[in-house]
Amino acid sequence: MQGAFAGKRVFLTGGSSGIGRAAALQLARAGASVCVAARRAEPLARVVTELRECACRDGQVFSSVALDISDRQAVYGAAPRVLEALGGLDVLINNAGVTHVGYLDETDDEVFERVLQINYLGAVWVTRAFLGHFRGARSGTIAFVSSFLGLMPVFGYAAYTASKHALTGFAECLRQELLIDGVRVCVVFPGDAKTPMLDAELPARPPETTKLAELVPPISAELVARELLTSVAQGRERAFPGFWNRASLWAARRFPRITRRVVDRDLRGVWRAGAGQASRTG
Ligand SMILES: NC(=O)c1ccc[n+]([C@@H]2O[C@H](COP(=O)([O-])OP(=O)(O)OC[C@H]3O[C@@H](n4cnc5c(N)ncnc54)[C@H](OP(=O)(O)O)[C@@H]3O)[C@@H](O)[C@H]2O)c1
Repeated sequence: MQGAFAGKRVFLTGGSSGIGRAAALQLARAGASVCVAARRAEPLARVVTELRECACRDGQVFSSVALDISDRQAVYGAAPRVLEALGGLDVLINNAGVTHVGYLDETDDEVFERVLQINYLGAVWVTRAFLGHFRGARSGTIAFVSSFLGLMPVFGYAAYTASKHALTGFAECLRQELLIDGVRVCVVFPGDAKTPMLDAELPARPPETTKLAELVPPISAELVARELLTSVAQGRERAFPGFWNRASLWAARRFPRITRRVVDRDLRGVWRAGAGQASRTG
């Protein structure tokens, strides 16, 4: 990974926290120029300072752009500034995202819209904003941070799972369309990763979700970032960070019916114990 990013120019959404911040720091240590985007300016400024401290080559450039990726016009307006700041672009990493967990009938309509607008449409707008550049360069990589839930739906994540499935589908269509131009597409499917997103989410998990999540223990944001960057460097199309994440997704693809039965058994176990939905309905 180390040599692959020296002198490369990378734009990373969601670079102020968690997986995105970890990836940005690893890129800076590997000699890349990095521009990070997120909505809040202050955490972005802190990360840019950290990036400067990690620089290892002459000429590395670090910058940030405060941007809500669900605002299409703002994204299209920011793209030329990003290209100018970096002097071009070799790798785009669509990482920014939000989560939501909870029972379907306790989830507001607006949550479905917001999660889809950020996790799915936000990545679409960012990708489309740089598509002409990548096609013109006839090289480079567009990466997406999807999720375990982008392949395997899990109780409590109806809104989030749908957004990540949409992202997975979009990325595969993109991969096929960009084949002719030699532009690579890489999708990463992490399970739980120890980030501020997970910290905020854990207390809101219904017992059913907590039970199913036992299958895949959380891994560090640094490990997810390393797997993401190694996959980009090696031209891999998909990455599944963490052993249990990889094993569970493999089993779900290979044995979908058995997987559903195991999930149902675990859910019924929670309800038999009087927890979760069983406690709500009495
Ligand atoms: N942590 C996990 O367990 C896990 C598992 C699987 C997949 N993922 C995915 O990994 C990615 C990163 O998650 P994380 O855990 O590192 O989360 P995180 O620590 O909460 O970081 C999310 C980043 O996205 C930015 N962001 C959120 N909404 C945005 C918007 N509308 N426009 C621009 N930037 C936005 C945030 O900054 P601002 O709030 O300032 O905008 C922040 O920089 C997400 O796509 C997530 O779905 C995470």
